[in-house]
Amino acid sequence: MVIVVTGGAGFIGSNFVFHMLKEHPDYRIICLDKLTYAGNMSTLAPVMDNPNFRFVKEDICDRDAVFKLFEEEQPEIVVNFAAESHVDRSIEDPGIFLTTNILGTQVLMDACRMLMNKENSTFKRYHQVSTDEVYGDLPLDRPDLLFTETTPIHTSSPYSSSKAGADLLVMAYNRTYGLPVTISRCSNNYGPYHFPEKLIPLMIINALHDEMLPVYGDGLNVRDWLYVEDHCKAIDKIIHNGRVGEVYNVGGHNEMANIDIVKLILAELGKPESLIKYVEDRHGHDRRYAIDPTKISQELGWSPETKFADGIKKTIHWYLENQAWWQPIIDGEYQDYYEKMYSKK
Ligand code: NAD
Ligand code: TYD
Repeated sequence: MVIVVTGGAGFIGSNFVFHMLKEHPDYRIICLDKLTYAGNMSTLAPVMDNPNFRFVKEDICDRDAVFKLFEEEQPEIVVNFAAESHVDRSIEDPGIFLTTNILGTQVLMDACRMLMNKENSTFKRYHQVSTDEVYGDLPLDRPDLLFTETTPIHTSSPYSSSKAGADLLVMAYNRTYGLPVTISRCSNNYGPYHFPEKLIPLMIINALHDEMLPVYGDGLNVRDWLYVEDHCKAIDKIIHNGRVGEVYNVGGHNEMANIDIVKLILAELGKPESLIKYVEDRHGHDRRYAIDPTKISQELGWSPETKFADGIKKTIHWYLENQAWWQPIIDGEYQDYYEKMYSKK
């Protein structure tokens, strides 16, 4: 099996590359990544010598490059992780989110159609890695409400809108052209190689440096956290056994308020809560996300394996042991953005 994984130098994509090479040692995995600020070659260093792995530095929006690669490799499955992924950045500058997340998806699917329409085509699946953020948010005082696959799309941020736009296009390519597609909509992931602009790694690293921990608004916003390896296992099941044309919600029934996560990280690191600073709220800040994973659990037998209490400890220890991974990020290009966001907080 030949699989193209886009965005494989980022957080979830790299964990997926590792998962697939380990679980399917006979597969050939080709990672297509532009290496934006969020892509990191040092993450992929452990697999660069694997004969079943190839890295290609290209932009998913570059039609010629994507078509050339697909002609060359003839992938049977394409899994699209490549995206601009940070809500705060999308509020600052939405343009690149629309370009990569929507137009990039179009280019990839057009290249898949080219493969699908060949004589004796072996093309099997285009899988879009989406997010629960396309459903908008839920109120804090209705714990009975969860996102299901039939919850209407109702986005809040330029990021979630760009992901929702891509999802609609994916479904349109299925209906109009018969492209065999699936979509997964996952809740917030955490784990190794998470870029340190996102809540959990940012708080761990700031606490380690005894710097203030910026909590947006009242800190009561709720996210449904899933250990990244569990997300990778869900996608593995969907691309092999998921039904074409279907959406699968992926989440762990693990709702946590931001402030509770921040306090837990401080406690684990033995740091004082006086480091917490409540700062201006994010514009349009979604209040609560919560996934109903009944469909994937009943149809594909998936359920999360890592409990949050264990996963967060593993993650904190990973950051403690892998300063060599995140320090260059903090010192490098990311520094400008980091300073800019901090000066506002
Ligand atoms: P990330 O920002 O860590 O990684 C994104 C990767 O995509 C980077 O390696 C980057 O270089 C690459 N990329 C960006 N633009 C590209 C382009 N034009 N061409 C090729 N490569 C490009 O993101 P992540 O957190 O790993 O998220 C991966 C996917 O999962 C995204 O589609 C995101 O919307 C989705 N998702 C993320 C979460 C989460 O909690 N992180 C939850 C649900 C869904
Ligand atoms: P984030 O990791 O950016 O993921 P998302 O916005 O996609 O859910 O943020 C998770 C939550 O943490 C969200 O409610 C915003 C909040 N947050 C803070 O309070 N402070 C921060 O510095 C960041 C980055 C996020």
